[in-house]
Amino acid sequence: MLNRPLRDLRISVTDRCNFRCTYCMPKEIFTRDYEFLSRDLLLSFEEIERLVRLSGELGVHKVRLTGGEPLLRRDLEHLIASLKAAGDFEVTMTTNGALLARKAQALKDAGLDRISVSLDSLDDTVFRAMNDVDFPVAKVLEGINLAHEVGLGPVKINAVVKRGVNDHTVVEMARYFKDTGHIIRFIEFMDVGHTNGWRLDDVVPAAEIVAMIDARMPLEPVKPNYLGEVARRYRFKDGGGEMGVIASVTQPFCGDCTRARISADGALYTCLFATKGFDLRALLRSTATDQEIIDTLAGIWAARDDRYSEIRSSETVDLPKVEMSYIGG
Ligand code: GTP
Ligand code: 5AD
Ligand code: SF4
Ligand code: SF4
Repeated sequence: MLNRPLRDLRISVTDRCNFRCTYCMPKEIFTRDYEFLSRDLLLSFEEIERLVRLSGELGVHKVRLTGGEPLLRRDLEHLIASLKAAGDFEVTMTTNGALLARKAQALKDAGLDRISVSLDSLDDTVFRAMNDVDFPVAKVLEGINLAHEVGLGPVKINAVVKRGVNDHTVVEMARYFKDTGHIIRFIEFMDVGHTNGWRLDDVVPAAEIVAMIDARMPLEPVKPNYLGEVARRYRFKDGGGEMGVIASVTQPFCGDCTRARISADGALYTCLFATKGFDLRALLRSTATDQEIIDTLAGIWAARDDRYSEIRSSETVDLPKVEMSYIGG
């Protein structure tokens, strides 16, 4: 037991996505006939709200809505409003940005505090190939700008870096987002799930990314905003704002991991790389009282000894881990 507090709840609201990023939902597996979860298997907004409210009693103060693509879940702004009303929670979201231009204002009005947008390259050809549905970069940028305008900023931009695929566009991205108030974070390609064909050779170490950028736009490290922050922060020395790297492969941060994840069908996972979850949906749909649910959550959390990224090895890489699109990023 590592005695890490529970602070963040990351909730996947759908396992569906309108992208097929090659590292996350490869088309060969997530085909037209792929069976996504049916509606009755998804947690309802009421069930999510109850879980969040109860987890607040255990110390959770940050809730992140993920997917799949969370904006595909109908009326998501109703859920956001109910979570904001349920207690003192910071409510954030990670989206691919495809529908953001259309929804930014409604999300802000519902009380969403901040937003992170996944965007792997500004090179349109590279981006279209990575999302694998030929989605243009310009539309995501439009969403990011609108989110910023309506006050959902600073917008964090998450770029997964894969060697030989988009690493040659990293410096250009850092340059583009510098001075905008947005914060770009480069993420090491991880071996989540078991369908993305991960190989260590595909990972561009964060240190290499920082060195590439620092050589053109000098950087200096900045202290974390809070204990357990996933991204390592850097400041542009010329005052152009900050950027970050998420080095979960080369510099794992399990020791400070305060995150629990809930899949779209209501299973609780205490690690992004878990192979098994606990069926909270059954508990929520039983006669269990609020206190019984709190006790169950507390028990699972107290017993947790996850530190996958620190013990990653050739054996663990091949485990039947759950997919990122199911458990949320
Ligand atoms: P803020 O600091 O509030 O912006 O939250 P965050 O940094 O957790 O933001 P976000 O959800 O956008 O996380 C960025 C990425 O970091 C995720 O998409 C994952 O790829 C990675 N990540 C987040 N949490 C974990 C974790 O617990 N373990 C590992 N290995 N990777 C994580
Ligand atoms: N490695 C690193 N990050 C990933 N994401 C999805 N799959 C992976 C992976 N294999 C990121 C997405 C998004 C977030 C939800 O998780 O790009 O930013
Ligand atoms: Fe969809 Fe995000 Fe996975 Fe890409 S990384 S397929 S946008 S869930
Ligand atoms: Fe937390 Fe698991 Fe990620 Fe480690 S690998 S930081 S324990 S989610």
